[in-house]
Amino acid sequence: SQNIYILGIESSCDDTAASIIYNGRILSNVIASQKIHEEYGGVVPELASRAHQQNIVPVVHQALEKASITKDELHAIAFTKGPGLMGSLLVGTSFAKSLAYGLNIPLIDVNHMQGHILAHYIDEDGYKKPPFPFLAMTISGGHTQIVKVDHYFDMTVIGETIDDAVGEAFDKSGKILGLGYPAGPEIDKRAALGNPKAFKFTKPKVDGLNFSFSGFKTAVLYFIQREVKANPNFIEENLNDICASIQYTIIGILMDKLKLATKQTGINHIAIGGGVSANSGIRKALKDGEQKFGWTTYIPKFEFTTDNAAMIAIVGYLKFLDGDFAEQNVVASARLKI
Ligand code: KG4
Ligand code: ZN
Repeated sequence: SQNIYILGIESSCDDTAASIIYNGRILSNVIASQKIHEEYGGVVPELASRAHQQNIVPVVHQALEKASITKDELHAIAFTKGPGLMGSLLVGTSFAKSLAYGLNIPLIDVNHMQGHILAHYIDEDGYKKPPFPFLAMTISGGHTQIVKVDHYFDMTVIGETIDDAVGEAFDKSGKILGLGYPAGPEIDKRAALGNPKAFKFTKPKVDGLNFSFSGFKTAVLYFIQREVKANPNFIEENLNDICASIQYTIIGILMDKLKLATKQTGINHIAIGGGVSANSGIRKALKDGEQKFGWTTYIPKFEFTTDNAAMIAIVGYLKFLDGDFAEQNVVASARLKI
């Protein structure tokens, strides 16, 4: 049984995605990102589920086509069960269930957060997979976690945000500065041109390995309001420096917690995932940690860090090998835990 084709489907937030994986290697990784949310400055759940309904059939068709297989060659269908927006999850879940039923093949439910972490086990030439145990830091617009990973399905969350996700800290700061949504990529670009020590923002005090970003966003808001009162052109005149200082503070918060996590666990292998791991400052800080703290870091290809279906398909493949299947009556779960 060594020629296994798995279809992975992801629809937890605002990306409709499908991927075909063959024995751990990606044959296709198709994603339809929903532009509609940009004009609202954030994801609108009702619009997201409607767009998923429009996108899901063409996206799955494209994934099969790009992989040069037909649906009759599939061995199983993996889908995101949660966590995520309920209306969005329902679209992927019901689609996966009916397709698996129609093809009479197994259905595999996948935890989105495990997907971000196990994306590191996609077979890719030249990519070194993290050895167990390792620490995974999952940072995106919806999540911020540090997870101790002892084996594929033996994971423990050892730290997480108590309010906003780190991606929200980027996006909400960007909104205050008048940048488009999502603002993370533009802050990243501008930060490279600015002075990270131009302005100082205090880091939140949160015990242990947990994070908090809502106070940071408020600090940025008050700082900008104060400065703009004194000088209406403050933002335009200092945009790169403001972006650099915001990013510098966020990186400091993340690195402090990672340092504490490696100290507490004695684990020095660090893997990252989630859209925010695209940030060039974070990538550099992690690489610098290899020299400074003796870390070994694992940074996947960009297309596997943001929400995608290849990460769902690889979890599906690993569960398929374990014979770990879902029942036909499985339901989506918005607050699913690792
Ligand atoms: O994983 P993702 O695509 O979707 C979620 O699950 O949220 O992550 C999207 C988040 C957004 O907050 C976006 O601003 C952020 O990732 N992001 C970045 C960068 N690229 C994307 N944040 C900082 N720097 C970047 N280069
Ligand atoms: Zn995600």
